[in-house]
Amino acid sequence: MPRILDGTRVRDEIKNELKPRVAALAAHGRPPGLAVALVGHDPGSEIYVRNKIKTCQELGIYSETLRPPETITTDELLRTVEELNRRGDIDGILVQLPLPKQVDAKRILLAVSPEKDVDGFHPCNVGNLVAGLPGPRACTPAGIIEMLKRYEIPMAGRRAVVVGRSDIVGKPVALLLLHQHATVTICHSKTPDLPSVCRQADILVAAIGRPAMITADYIKPGAAVIDVGMNRLDARADAARIFRNSPEKLASFDKKGNVLVGDVDPFGAAEVAGAYTPVPGGVGPLTIAMLMANTVAAAERRAGLC
Ligand code: GUN
Repeated sequence: MPRILDGTRVRDEIKNELKPRVAALAAHGRPPGLAVALVGHDPGSEIYVRNKIKTCQELGIYSETLRPPETITTDELLRTVEELNRRGDIDGILVQLPLPKQVDAKRILLAVSPEKDVDGFHPCNVGNLVAGLPGPRACTPAGIIEMLKRYEIPMAGRRAVVVGRSDIVGKPVALLLLHQHATVTICHSKTPDLPSVCRQADILVAAIGRPAMITADYIKPGAAVIDVGMNRLDARADAARIFRNSPEKLASFDKKGNVLVGDVDPFGAAEVAGAYTPVPGGVGPLTIAMLMANTVAAAERRAGLC
């Protein structure tokens, strides 16, 4: 039986480790502060942001959600970010992606002060990551490394294959795995014979956004499979195909009208992998835990505590 890599357990460990650091900051003057800008009403983003704010409250981190209108221009959002850069009580700024089409997301991310960039998306911090210098790391990639470390899954000398080359997950997780001395391959939609490349992986990271695309024939027996996908299935035929062996999931679909699935076929992973992250409850909870860790670290740096 493969090991299930439980993201909620690791998230709770990380949160418990952060609590005394938040208390020390509060005793030093004020708690850490996080501002989240959420433009529009993307349902996925609404859920992410709600969970981020709830976790701040649990930890005693001050948080603020800004909800500019969906019609906001790049210049208006730049002014919002610049105001947050100036605020003394805000240590971390997160602009939730995706942004509406009329907004130039690259200019917005460039405007966030690198010291307050708790997403690790600013080019300065991407440069710090490439060079192995200190700085905030993108939250989902950092959470994946935390998960592998805490489950004592060796990375040094192992083959890691990352499927997906996004700026948010694929590229940064590949660099973090490289810094852990893995031999890393990045694959994407133009990679020939993807299953055979994936089958070489001791650590397989799926971050493509395609429901259950990574089936058993992509997985080396015993590999650690990290599923970053979070896809909502709305068609019953898709749910019935993917969850053919799971009456509970199908019952849940029939009740709610949709069901979540990752980029990895859950039955393929259960049959072949040595360890895998479930969806939900795998990588997702760690993204928020690492955002909290980045916010606390930014506050400590500003307070001169580290
Ligand atoms: N949208 C999906 N994931 C993320 C993330 O990690 N940060 C931000 N800012 N937006 C996202």
